[in-house]
Amino acid sequence: MKEETRLRLEEKYRKKSEAYIKSLSDPAKAAQMGGGRRRGPGSMVGMGKPKDAGKSIKRLFGYMKKDAPLIVVVGILVLISSFANLAGSYVLRPVINGLMVAVGMYEENEVQTLALPTGIALMAVIFLSSVFAQYIYQRIMLGVSQRALLKLRNELFEKISRLPLKFYDTNDTGDIMSRFTNDVDSIGNMLNNTIASIISGVISLVGTLCLMIYTNIWLTIVTLVFSPVIILAAKAVATRSRKYYKQQQAALGSLNGYIEETISGQKIVKVFNHEEASIDEFEYLNTDLRNKQLSAQFFGGIMWPVMGNLSQVSYAITATVGGILCVLRGFDVGGLTTFVNYSRQFSRPINELSMQVTEIFSALAGAERVFDIMDTPPELPDKENAVSPAPLKGEIVLKDVTFGYVEGQTILKNVSFYAKPGQKIALVGSTGAGKTTITNLITRFYDIDSGSITIDGVDIRDYKRDYLRKNIAMVLQDTHLFSGTVKENIRYGRLDATDEEVIEAAKLASAHSFIMRLENGYDTVLEGDGANLSQGQRQLLNIARAAISKAPILILDEATSSVDTRTERHIEHGMDRLMKERTTIVIAHRLSTVRNANAIIVLEHGEIIERGDHQELLDMKGRYYELYTGKSELE
Ligand SMILES: Nc1ncnc2c1ncn2[C@@H]1O[C@H](COP(=O)(O)OP(=O)(O)OP(=O)(O)O)[C@@H](O)[C@H]1O
Ligand SMILES: [Mg+2]
Repeated sequence: MKEETRLRLEEKYRKKSEAYIKSLSDPAKAAQMGGGRRRGPGSMVGMGKPKDAGKSIKRLFGYMKKDAPLIVVVGILVLISSFANLAGSYVLRPVINGLMVAVGMYEENEVQTLALPTGIALMAVIFLSSVFAQYIYQRIMLGVSQRALLKLRNELFEKISRLPLKFYDTNDTGDIMSRFTNDVDSIGNMLNNTIASIISGVISLVGTLCLMIYTNIWLTIVTLVFSPVIILAAKAVATRSRKYYKQQQAALGSLNGYIEETISGQKIVKVFNHEEASIDEFEYLNTDLRNKQLSAQFFGGIMWPVMGNLSQVSYAITATVGGILCVLRGFDVGGLTTFVNYSRQFSRPINELSMQVTEIFSALAGAERVFDIMDTPPELPDKENAVSPAPLKGEIVLKDVTFGYVEGQTILKNVSFYAKPGQKIALVGSTGAGKTTITNLITRFYDIDSGSITIDGVDIRDYKRDYLRKNIAMVLQDTHLFSGTVKENIRYGRLDATDEEVIEAAKLASAHSFIMRLENGYDTVLEGDGANLSQGQRQLLNIARAAISKAPILILDEATSSVDTRTERHIEHGMDRLMKERTTIVIAHRLSTVRNANAIIVLEHGEIIERGDHQELLDMKGRYYELYTGKSELE
């Protein structure tokens, strides 16, 4: 790779990575970062610090409310298991002292004793009950947490289906998806393990400490002197490892984003001979990931050995001091054994708890990102007195409609037009003029800023939303097919349509003949947005989907742009019958398709500049004439 290429890439991805790491501490910013189309780093794992941990915890518990009794049971079982562990170790003391008495080191009544077989049996019972309790509470907790996740995912998906389109304009698809996968996963991890291990960790810590003090206060002090050292070391390692972990995630995000982009754009890469450059860029990202991963894993991996060795040192010292106490101050050998055992257990919960903290933080930050979506206001609810009257006739009136997607940026200015029921209105104009925007407003994908849109004399905001959309059939500019059979895809337009109606709609859309040529006809399964169909065939299926609906209003946005002119004429003939009973709004760049419209509306920069029928507009020799003949009067 050339040095200058490397430098350019370094610059590009350094910025990306910085922005990503910054966005981790402020998820709200992450959502805005880079506007609409953001891929890669931003769409990665939910990490960082939660803004209001208490609130998220409370809300998460809300998902387990029904299981509250079970959680109490879990709590009790965790208590039993932890106490059993502590008690089990303590039995060692009288057992060993009993052996010491047997070899004559102590007098019979000098120390507490327990016969070896009894002791072993007792320990077995205690430890087995601990294991059993642990098994039960983990099973219960698994059920509880998976139920909570199920509910959470359902709610999230439901919410996502009810969000206004505006939300999708400002949020990256990858980012939304990562909330479903990564964030929900980390919440799941936390619910599965963390709660129980925190309770048991705290109990073990406090319990061990109490028993240590009870066994020998001096030795406890010796052990405690070492604990801060262990804690500080753990903290230092954890901080470093967190830093590198973030960098690693950023690098991983960039790499994943790049792979995705390249695979889906493989054709473009090849057409522009970008293979070399693309391989170089990948190599850079790959190396970067290796470096970041080395640091991250090194610090992540170093944590345990360091902690382990530190506790070995502490163990040795405790044992030495304990031994001296035995010899000089009459500390019993059984007590020493138990104590040494405890001192080993003592550092375990500290380690575990410090590890859990990171996990909890990232899960709570993830929870916040999930709740962020949940709290995004959905589409404005239908008005209290929203109506869904008898079948609509399809009279559409736009009056002085002004609208912008983003505040302060007006896209449509004072647009007015009138469509009588059954009329065909054509919207024409150059790219970006605002044609699709008008249809977005009629379907209430977006609400207008001022003016009014009425259908059959009623403001569309006074209809129930689903009623309004049930009355509008639409072929969108970008086709979309779901995975499923051809038949299912057409029936999407009206779920109760019979097979005959599906075929009739397909015939109307001139799709029947190509469908019959497919391997399984109407039962052919389409995958990945109909990747095995041609662009035009995809459009025909979209038209059939609209044709099957009985809606009185039909919107065709560039519906036949990828279809040859002969097929287009076929569709037109087929649709004519359909259109007669419906108000149709047609958008087309190919003006031959709109010639027979009742009215043609010419848009330019969001304003209507000409209107009339085909002949009138031609006679006007204005913009339409220009578009239609390809000639400019000015030439
Ligand atoms: N979701 C959106 N958020 C912000 N701006 C948008 C959005 N969709 C469209 N625009 C802007 O609104 C303007 C009109 O877009 P519109 O899609 O209505 O054009 P159009 O007339 O349908 O063009 P075309 O013939 O290319 O389909 C464009 O300038 C576009 O940048
Ligand atoms: Mg458009």
